[in-house]
Amino acid sequence: MKKLIAGNWKMNGNLSANHALLAALAEGLRVKPACDVAVCVPAPYLAQVQSLKAASMDVGSQDVSAHAFGAYTGEVCAAMLKDFGVRYAIVGHSERRQYHAESDALVADKAKAALAEGITPIVCVGETLAERQAGQTEEVVKRQLAAVIHTNGHCISEIVLAYEPVWAIGTGKTASPEEAQAVHAVLRAQLKAATDMSARVKILYGGSMNAANASSLLAQADIDGGLIGGASLKAADFLSIIAAAQ
Ligand code: 13P
Repeated sequence: MKKLIAGNWKMNGNLSANHALLAALAEGLRVKPACDVAVCVPAPYLAQVQSLKAASMDVGSQDVSAHAFGAYTGEVCAAMLKDFGVRYAIVGHSERRQYHAESDALVADKAKAALAEGITPIVCVGETLAERQAGQTEEVVKRQLAAVIHTNGHCISEIVLAYEPVWAIGTGKTASPEEAQAVHAVLRAQLKAATDMSARVKILYGGSMNAANASSLLAQADIDGGLIGGASLKAADFLSIIAAAQ
């Protein structure tokens, strides 16, 4: 399966820094890469990114409302994202689960709202350090994915899944390729039980993935790409990860 390398800029950037980053990425991606590439950017910059991005790169959002339209101050719905050419929407990132108290059920509804507009949700799951130490990793990620399967039924084959162990995000501590693969295999089995088309679901790894560790993670059987935070803000690093995915 074609791998997907997606950057998550989080709440970083400004018009001039984005301009420089996008120009460097466009230069580096003049030859179309063998993997799919996307950047998930803050909503105010969607138009800028859409106009400056490399032709071979897709644009994503970092969240989407569970609602289609209406009196939800501050929210952005999938149809609005679609207006700006958004192809992917991250849902259930651990920073939203943690700081915005997003429940498994809300994350599942957000995935559904994205799918309804033809946007591919990148559904994030992952355990905290305390949960890993308590031996609950499998139980946690399965519970998080089960909610999305329950709400989305056969459409589950249309999602991208991302395993992001919370303890590896922004910490410089990456899951070892074996640790990551073990969880990816669990998620793959759960998808397989839910749909005949599970083989088409990409499962990305995220959490301190960088130019140095990308190849060994991406070599694992069930790791189909990466969701990259910090390293996606540096063109050279992001391009190295893309090269590692070829
Ligand atoms: P880092 O790559 O900065 O650890 O972030 C990972 C992440 O949260 C991507 O969504």
